[in-house]
Amino acid sequence: MASSNKLQAIRWVRPHLSILDQLLLPHASTYIDIRSSADGHRAISTMQTRGAPAIAIVAALSLAAELLQSDTIATVSFIEGRLDYLATSRPTAVNLFDAIRKLKAAVHAAHDRGDKDITQAYVSAAEAMLAADVADNQAIGRLGAEFILSRSNESPVKVLTHCNTGALATAGHGTALGIIRSLHGQKDVLEHVYFTETRPYNQGARLTAYELLVEEIPATLVCDSAVSALLRSDPSIRAIVVGADRVARNGDTANKIGTYQLAIAAKFHGRDFIVAAPTTSIDLDLASGDGIVIEERAMDEVLVTEGFAKETIGGGELGRAAVRVAPVGVAAWNPSFDVTPAHLITAVVTERGVFVKDNEASEYDLQRSLNGN
Ligand code: MRU
Repeated sequence: MASSNKLQAIRWVRPHLSILDQLLLPHASTYIDIRSSADGHRAISTMQTRGAPAIAIVAALSLAAELLQSDTIATVSFIEGRLDYLATSRPTAVNLFDAIRKLKAAVHAAHDRGDKDITQAYVSAAEAMLAADVADNQAIGRLGAEFILSRSNESPVKVLTHCNTGALATAGHGTALGIIRSLHGQKDVLEHVYFTETRPYNQGARLTAYELLVEEIPATLVCDSAVSALLRSDPSIRAIVVGADRVARNGDTANKIGTYQLAIAAKFHGRDFIVAAPTTSIDLDLASGDGIVIEERAMDEVLVTEGFAKETIGGGELGRAAVRVAPVGVAAWNPSFDVTPAHLITAVVTERGVFVKDNEASEYDLQRSLNGN
């Protein structure tokens, strides 16, 4: 099932890149032009674009736009310098670093074969990432839906998700939300979706809510803190399905803050806890989640609640508004992600297959799983 045009987070028509400003959603659908790697870096670090796959693709295409619109011929060292700069935009999602490694390899290969203009090799590699992400997400959606349905004869099913992992977080379709979209695409299979607000940035309340409404998927928003109570009161919620920013070789998974407590709640209540991620989110260089760098963001994201209000001055337009909740002087800890240990994860769904732990094992061997597929 394709995603609606209203959910197209990344628009690329050579040489123009524009992105849907996710700080303004769901109240305004505004595309902003990204003309350079500096624009790309700003859009990623301010979270105008976000979600592990989207971060990587916007970074890659922002430099493609810059190179195509420049009057000078780019050198390998110029491209590498801009990619190293883009690598500083956000630290946790490995997709960005995976993309940068592949893009550097593409320009080196072009240079080694004696291509006069290495820009074309760079742009083709970046465009291939955009296309591959949509195809990968569609495969994840199909495989994840099959896996959930294979776990019990009872259908329709109810599921719960966290953060936003849909078309807005990717090149299209989505990962965990892609599975939900794929379930919804089959007749009488998906009964209901619960989704968390995902404090403090509210990716759930703003973005997942918007996607589910656009696609007319029956859904209910819950506070992050309501999930245990919900699982207890509704035994028919079959699974919690989340995305990933970085999956270590043993299956430990960094994802949006709050994911870990959801996995504990799922284990306690005997429900499946499923991680959905393209293989570009798997970091085989990391033996476990201990080595994952967790981004810490500004305290104000916690101390101040952002939303939309009618401006009293300026003609009654809906505008972004910030309301201070906590008293001035109080400190806050604002990690953007947490790490869920592999033993709490029922399955890792990728475009190359659904991976489960060996009998009795508490960890995955994703190196072996990927070699075997
Ligand atoms: O801070 P964000 O909004 O970039 O965090 C997003 C998440 O944690 C997603 O779950 C993850 O990137 C997967 S998106 C397909």
